[in-house]
Amino acid sequence: MRRKLIAGNWKMNGSLAANAVLLNGLKDEIRETKSSVAVCVPAPYLAQCQAALAGTAIAWGAQDVSVHESGAYTGEISGAMLADFACTYAIVGHSERRSYHGETSEVVAKKTERAIKSGLTPIVCVGESLEDREAGRTDAVVGEQIDAVLALLGPADLAKIVIAYEPVWAIGTGRTATPQMAQDVHAMLRSRIAARNSAAAENVQILYGGSMKPDNAGELLAMADIDGGLIGGASLKAADFLAIIRAA
Ligand code: PGA
Repeated sequence: MRRKLIAGNWKMNGSLAANAVLLNGLKDEIRETKSSVAVCVPAPYLAQCQAALAGTAIAWGAQDVSVHESGAYTGEISGAMLADFACTYAIVGHSERRSYHGETSEVVAKKTERAIKSGLTPIVCVGESLEDREAGRTDAVVGEQIDAVLALLGPADLAKIVIAYEPVWAIGTGRTATPQMAQDVHAMLRSRIAARNSAAAENVQILYGGSMKPDNAGELLAMADIDGGLIGGASLKAADFLAIIRAA
C-alpha cells in the first residue's frame, strides 16, 4: 500500500510574514496524518521553513535544482545547498520551467539524477499541453518526458523518485483532469517504470497536479494509481491545503 503524499508548490509566492502565518496554520493542524505532507518553497525561504518545521510532520523542499554540482554557475542553486537546509524534496521539470526556461527532457533527467546524488527526492513533473491532448498525443508526449528520466537512472534509483503528472492545461486554470483521465496517464506511467523495475513501479508515488482543490481532491485521490497531489494555488491557503490533506 503506497502512502499518499500531498505536496504544496508555492511557486514564486510568499513573504516572511505571509509564510509565518501559513506555516503556523499548517503546523497546528498537522500532527499525525496518514499521508506525507510537504511544502516546496522559494529558495530564500528554506531557512524559514527549516526553523518552523523541523521536528514536525511537514517536510520541505525546493522547486528546482541545478544540474551542476558546484562552481561558476551564477544564479544556480546546488543539490548540496538544498540538502544543507535539510530539504527532503526538489521539484524538477515543472512545466513552467520547461516552457519559460527552455528545460528539455534531457535537462530534467540530469536534474533528477543530480537531486538523487544530493540525497534529495526529486518530484519529477510531466504533462501534456492542451494541443497535445486534443491531437491524441498525450501518451507520446508524457511517455517521452518520463522515458528520458528513466533512461538516465539505474534501476535502483527508480525507487527514489516521485512523479507528478500535471497536464499543462489544468495548471492554474481551474480546469482539472477527470479522475479517469488522470488515472489512465498514471497507469501508463507506472507501466513504463514496471518495464524496468517492477518493485519500484509498485512503490513509486505518482501525484496528480493541476487545479487540485478541496472539492475535487477526494475523487482524484480515490483512483488506484493516484498517490497524492502537487498543489499550487490551493497550497497558499492553510484551510484549503488542510482540506486536501484530510481528503487523502
Ligand atoms: P495549481 O498548480 O494547483 O495552481 O494548478 C499546480 C502546479 O503547477 O504544481
